[in-house]
Amino acid sequence: MSETSFTLHGTDGAARTGVIRTPRGEIRTPAFMPVGTAATVKAMLPESVRETGADVLLGNTYHLMLRPGAERVARLGGLHRFMNWDRPILTDSGGFQVMSLAGLRKLTEEGVTFRSHVDGSKHMLSPERSMEIQRLLGSDIVMAFDECPALPAERERVASSMRLSMRWAQRSRDAFGDRPGHMLFGIQQGGLDRELREESAEALRGIGFDGYAVGGLAVGEGQAAMFDCLDFAPGMLPEDKPRYLMGVGKPDDVVGAVKRGIDMMDCVLPTRSGRTGQAFTRRGVVNIKNARHADDPRPLDEHCACPACTGYSRAYLHHVYRSHEMISGMLLSWHNLQYFQDIMEGMRGAIAAGRFGEWEAAFHAGRAEGDI
Ligand code: GUN
Ligand code: ZN
Repeated sequence: MSETSFTLHGTDGAARTGVIRTPRGEIRTPAFMPVGTAATVKAMLPESVRETGADVLLGNTYHLMLRPGAERVARLGGLHRFMNWDRPILTDSGGFQVMSLAGLRKLTEEGVTFRSHVDGSKHMLSPERSMEIQRLLGSDIVMAFDECPALPAERERVASSMRLSMRWAQRSRDAFGDRPGHMLFGIQQGGLDRELREESAEALRGIGFDGYAVGGLAVGEGQAAMFDCLDFAPGMLPEDKPRYLMGVGKPDDVVGAVKRGIDMMDCVLPTRSGRTGQAFTRRGVVNIKNARHADDPRPLDEHCACPACTGYSRAYLHHVYRSHEMISGMLLSWHNLQYFQDIMEGMRGAIAAGRFGEWEAAFHAGRAEGDI
């Protein structure tokens, strides 16, 4: 018997709910993955991240290879031990981050050479080196090495980039080998173009992966264009394998993606916004820095069970934000992660009960009322 699996428990329209099983634990889908780029979910203890209901974290090949180094993490017992998170970790493969963060890049068929954004030192990533780094980290879900242009881009540029990523997907598969207990996901590219998405999906299906990501979205195209693409892209990927939308998104992006057949997502938004004083609530976005909160004894979100909402007033959260106190980022990050996990739990229950449409209507109605 395989040591990993994906089981669907229910569907409602295109939306799905199920579970991914790995030796490090189960991932309930649809799943939201908090981002732990540098071996930490910023401003959160791992046990607190777990308390919000997260089953899996995302880590980054690019950041960890530069600092502290994959070989060092391996010597110290792997990423799980290093960061004190013993549940599943998915790692991104590095190519996407090289393109957005590194200085002076050179892209060839072999891979990409670049300069570190940390200290300017020279590095190389290829499908083979990315697989090696993700193995050294001890990642449970390994992403194929890919490349992706920012949108808008010319069709020929999107097509040749996608075809390079598909050749790299085959090399990733070959280099990954057979690793029981670990999963390898392929990444569909092709921009917003239906034909290119189909060509990419066909190439990935031919290679065969344990899961399939929709890549190359949320790169400047806007929500309407992204949803148009999600109306067809997930359906091109095998129904019996998890589908992961990379780097998405805001709460309404997350809900719209699940409605269109996505099972997993990740985004820095809950934690990054938490550190800049933005809270996501059932009534929409609250900017805690706003002076209207200075005397407000009410909680941030009266329906939230997180420590920020059960123990503190808006006035306190406003005060610690304005005073640049560290607890501000800690409390708002916790709240935002809790809110995203509450959305996921709500959707899982609604899909299982065949009531996703009603759940979605209530979600949008709460936001339409606005913060009061
Ligand atoms: N994160 C967000 N989008 C992408 C993508 O297209 N590829 C990879 N590897 N990571 C991403
Ligand atoms: Zn809260």
